[in-house]
Amino acid sequence: MNSYSRRRRRRQWYVGPGGLLAVLAVIAAAVLAVVLFQGCGTDAPPAGEDTAQTDGDGQTGGQDDRQPGDSQPQEVKTSAGVSCTLTDLGEEAIYTGELVLVNNWTLYHFPEEQELVSIYAEKNDSYYVAGSEVYLAPAAMEALNAMLGDFTAQGGSKSVNVVAGYRTEEFQQHLFDQSAEQNGLEHAQQYVAQPGGSEHHTGLVVDLSIYHDNGTSEEYHGTGEYAWINGNCQNYGYVVRYAEDKADLTGIANEPWHFRYVGVPHATQMVKEGLCLEEYIDYLKDYTADGEHLMIECASGTYEVWYAQGSEVYLPDSGDYTVSGNNVDGIIVTCRVG
Ligand code: DAL
Ligand code: ZN
Repeated sequence: MNSYSRRRRRRQWYVGPGGLLAVLAVIAAAVLAVVLFQGCGTDAPPAGEDTAQTDGDGQTGGQDDRQPGDSQPQEVKTSAGVSCTLTDLGEEAIYTGELVLVNNWTLYHFPEEQELVSIYAEKNDSYYVAGSEVYLAPAAMEALNAMLGDFTAQGGSKSVNVVAGYRTEEFQQHLFDQSAEQNGLEHAQQYVAQPGGSEHHTGLVVDLSIYHDNGTSEEYHGTGEYAWINGNCQNYGYVVRYAEDKADLTGIANEPWHFRYVGVPHATQMVKEGLCLEEYIDYLKDYTADGEHLMIECASGTYEVWYAQGSEVYLPDSGDYTVSGNNVDGIIVTCRVG
């Protein structure tokens, strides 16, 4: 029996005639003795607790009895019939994972340790990187290699240059100050997140540029041959995070060079629904473990998704699944079902 099918225990109470309780102590003790002799419960109910419940199973008052259907958690199963168990992942889990929303008003919770790899050390030969000190989270790294490997395999040039990945808070501050000085405060606020409010802190982001054989560089716009990357990145788990028509919601102007890794199923669903991450985090709240689950078909399979507010979440007892906090108020479970 798992913890969801356990029935909540409930006490059974017996209340003797009120008038008898008002007489002398000796008489009351005698009444009590009679009641006990008859095998009836005598616990005094706490204030506000139901006083008239019986469960008919012969248990006496003072013992805990189970009541079917008595506000117990529902049994939760995936569509494939796998039972799920309510598990408390701890508050930290709300702020960790591939779906964390980070923006100027939803600051990143820096973990004590963050796993990062050097793009220079891990990359394939289908693109460049601006030095050996550009870092990414491992899942984002693997997806970047796959995406740019396929880009060149289908005819794209090997001219993409990764110019940014993980950033510390201090470096973000430096970039903001530099941009404000060079381009003015308004421009900096449109294109550079506040320290703590940059997705680059997560290690799940790359900024792309173009590097020409003659040694010159140009800004990346995701047009021409590079439109393939912006049009297919969701199949590798990336989204173009800052679109012009979402600037009011993201707080950042159009940045076709900034790619955020959220995993293939969620990137696919975001593109399908036309949602930026701010919208998507809200959208997922409609799908809960004991309600409707979100089904996502994508390049890497079929997934079933639900959201839980807080750190307690139903997790499948078996199978392939991931969890991620939303960095706002809860956790998203993404379960592979096909
Ligand atoms: N350019 C993006 C918004 C950042 O600074 O994180
Ligand atoms: Zn960026």
